[in-house]
Amino acid sequence: LTKSGAADSPSGADDAGAMDQTGSQFGHPRGLVGRLALAAMAVKNGRYNQAARDALALAPGDRVLEVGCGPGVSLRKAARLVGRTGSVAGVDVSRDAVRVARHKNHWMIRRGRAQVLQAGADDLPFSDAQFTRAYAVNSFQFWPKPQEAMGELARVLVPGGRLVIVQRSAGPDTTSDFAGAQGGWERIERAVDAAKQAGFSVVDVTQEPAGKLVAAIAIFEKLPEGSR
Ligand SMILES: C[S@@+](CC[C@H](N)C(=O)[O-])C[C@H]1O[C@@H](n2cnc3c(N)ncnc32)[C@H](O)[C@@H]1O
Repeated sequence: LTKSGAADSPSGADDAGAMDQTGSQFGHPRGLVGRLALAAMAVKNGRYNQAARDALALAPGDRVLEVGCGPGVSLRKAARLVGRTGSVAGVDVSRDAVRVARHKNHWMIRRGRAQVLQAGADDLPFSDAQFTRAYAVNSFQFWPKPQEAMGELARVLVPGGRLVIVQRSAGPDTTSDFAGAQGGWERIERAVDAAKQAGFSVVDVTQEPAGKLVAAIAIFEKLPEGSR
């Protein structure tokens, strides 16, 4: 099953069910308020994205996919880390997020080192084994079909490729439920279950401090064919 080329009408992009579940501009930024939400993400999500890039252990030459890239700030940082021999791709269901992320990465896009496409996690417009690394930050909770999405991530990663899922989460003594932080670890557990079913092994589940909250981090590796 090989897919390539940009999706005109990505699956999930108009999924009313997903929209009802989130009811939030953070799950699918749209219009003026969506632009404000994207600006807030660019400021507020820095530590979570830093934790994801660290866990990915990015190196020159890596081909990196970010699912739910939002404003594209982390994508630009990842592009610098993988250097001229590497490349980055971002996907997001939100047309406005794609616009902002393209603007933010226009220099890299013009040089053929970055692309940003409108697509859902469960229908990635990429070839099999196109990436060496993939990640998603504070996005997994919005995916309407998490199991299909994990299957897609397994498909587009090379055997041995690394996947990192990061969720904003509450620490043991944190009462704050900012942006659903109390549900963060439960989401990580769901991501672990889905990833295992899709053919990933769990490398580590860990956390990094992020102000009063923590970045909950799940690190996976795609198992080679035949060992699943
Ligand atoms: C809270 S924002 C986080 C954005 C970015 N990762 C960051 O850390 O700033 C969640 C993003 O996931 C995107 N998203 C939601 N559902 C998605 C799906 N099924 N596939 C791809 N992206 C999705 C949203 O449009 C939004 O841009």
